[in-house]
Amino acid sequence: MKKNFGAKAVITPLPVLIIATYNEDGTPDAMNAAWGGQCASKHIALNLGPSHATTANIIRNKAFTVSFADKKNLVASDYVGLVSAKSESNKIEKAGLHAEKSSFVNAPVITDYPLTIECRVVSMREEMGEMRVVGEIVNLSADEAILDESGNVDIGKMGALVYDSPSHGYRVVGERVGNAFSDGNVLK
Ligand SMILES: Cc1cc2nc3c(=O)[nH]c(=O)nc-3n(C[C@H](O)[C@H](O)[C@H](O)COP(=O)(O)O)c2cc1C
Repeated sequence: MKKNFGAKAVITPLPVLIIATYNEDGTPDAMNAAWGGQCASKHIALNLGPSHATTANIIRNKAFTVSFADKKNLVASDYVGLVSAKSESNKIEKAGLHAEKSSFVNAPVITDYPLTIECRVVSMREEMGEMRVVGEIVNLSADEAILDESGNVDIGKMGALVYDSPSHGYRVVGERVGNAFSDGNVLK
């Protein structure tokens, strides 16, 4: 038997993306965003509330970075999702995070996170009360500590968080249990 919940749940798990931008005065800002993801091979889509400082920053700077929240920085990652730069001008500092300018786009890289994607905005559209933003990936940088022997990113070493929306919880990405585009071949 299945239980129906009506139009309640959203897709779960969701990523815990940390979107970093520059405020008008040049200070870095970051926010937590679960409603976002890869929408093409080199593009990332975000759904942002129109009142966030981040949304205004993206409209003005046409750039943002996306880091993956990890277990080590869980409290700071939640904090940047609770407090707006509109009311806390030292948001990054208060979170205990550190930022440096991206070499590729006009947006900060939060150096505490092990994996960051740098994007330039290619499309922005207001729809159903949200700002739909699409960014083109211009660079991805990763700490050496999360690379495997071949030099590729090993998600298992990141302690990456996912957002468990039904319970409003954070979980850690775990065990690798299969091979994509491959394991299903046995049924062909
Ligand atoms: C787990 C979590 C997920 C969130 N996901 C989103 C999201 O996808 N889109 C959004 O607009 N706000 C989202 N928020 C809320 C923003 O992160 C929050 O309003 C933040 O304070 C905005 O900061 P800013 O005004 O400095 O940009 C989320 C918050 C949390 C805690």
